[in-house]
Amino acid sequence: MPGPVRSAASCSLQRVPAPINLRSDTQTLPTPAMLQAIATADLGDDTYDEDPTVQRLEAMAAARMGMAAALLVPSGHMGNLIALMVHAKPGDEVVLDRDSHIAYYEAGSMASLAGLMPIPLLSVAGRLDPDEVAGAVRERDLHYATPRLLCLENTHNRSGGRVVPLTHHAALCEVARAKGLAVHLDGARIFNAAIAQGCEVADYTRGVDSVMFCLSKGLSCPLGSLLVGSATFIAEADRVRRRLGGGMRQAGIIAAAGIVALDSMVDRLAEDHARARRLAHGLASVDGLAIDLEAVETNMVMVDHSALPWTTHELLARWAAVGVLGSARAPRHIRLVTHRHHDDDVIDDAVSRIAGA
Ligand SMILES: Cc1ncc(COP(=O)(O)O)c(C=O)c1O
Repeated sequence: MPGPVRSAASCSLQRVPAPINLRSDTQTLPTPAMLQAIATADLGDDTYDEDPTVQRLEAMAAARMGMAAALLVPSGHMGNLIALMVHAKPGDEVVLDRDSHIAYYEAGSMASLAGLMPIPLLSVAGRLDPDEVAGAVRERDLHYATPRLLCLENTHNRSGGRVVPLTHHAALCEVARAKGLAVHLDGARIFNAAIAQGCEVADYTRGVDSVMFCLSKGLSCPLGSLLVGSATFIAEADRVRRRLGGGMRQAGIIAAAGIVALDSMVDRLAEDHARARRLAHGLASVDGLAIDLEAVETNMVMVDHSALPWTTHELLARWAAVGVLGSARAPRHIRLVTHRHHDDDVIDDAVSRIAGA
């Protein structure tokens, strides 16, 4: 006798449990409070400077960063690119980490759109060496490109959310000053860094000329980033944003969620950090996986799988088959990122699924 008829969908649901998505904190969805704020936001045409909600968010962001002015941009990438284009002219040199988001993931826009010469340096745990930075900046000479800018990143994505400590950050800013460079901080996750250091974000922005931070990562907004700096810097950034086609009309629908994020989503990032530690401790006892527990400083866990026979992509596929999604950091690592959609039970479930994969 054939058994009861089941749809293909219900069969596959039985075989693969609902995925636990640990690919990135960018996968977070807006909160009910954000959706409510979006639905009721006061709106206007922001390219006429007439959107009150955008203006409120920009004022909040500037105050939070301890700087004079801020500009809402659609993405972190655009915020970084605008900063590069305001600080430097085509042909100028920019000193930055070879593994920084700007150098590694931004599709070469610093060269193709900003026309800048990268001077890439290696960092350790996201920390550039101040002496190497100093050594990379040549004297001004007619024959050389002009060194103009140092880019920093905190937390540091490719090292697995590592925090550049405040003292180290300050030393880098000091070298840049001494060498006549401006400093831009890619602070996509600067709130995570400040929470991990037990300081204010303004402590990190004190020595820099501009900072970009993202609303769309652990803060759970659907999109949006803020570029923050002096009033003159932001006035020029506004022009460059328009040049790149980034002027927006009723952008208050983005800003409304951002205001909720700054008001109520920052402190809870500490929970994501605690869950990353819980995940790391759980996975450390799984055969074949190695985790540097000291390196789990914020919401990311780098899992070293070199003791297992599979490539990173093969192992990711095995994990996906049991319903755990991560990101490849081939050839040896998978990156897992915690965020507000994971509670302790979800984290424990992820560990047991991975152990059984
Ligand atoms: C450190 C860092 N900077 C910049 C960005 C770019 O942000 P967006 O994806 O909004 O362009 C990211 C995105 O993950 C990031 O991790």
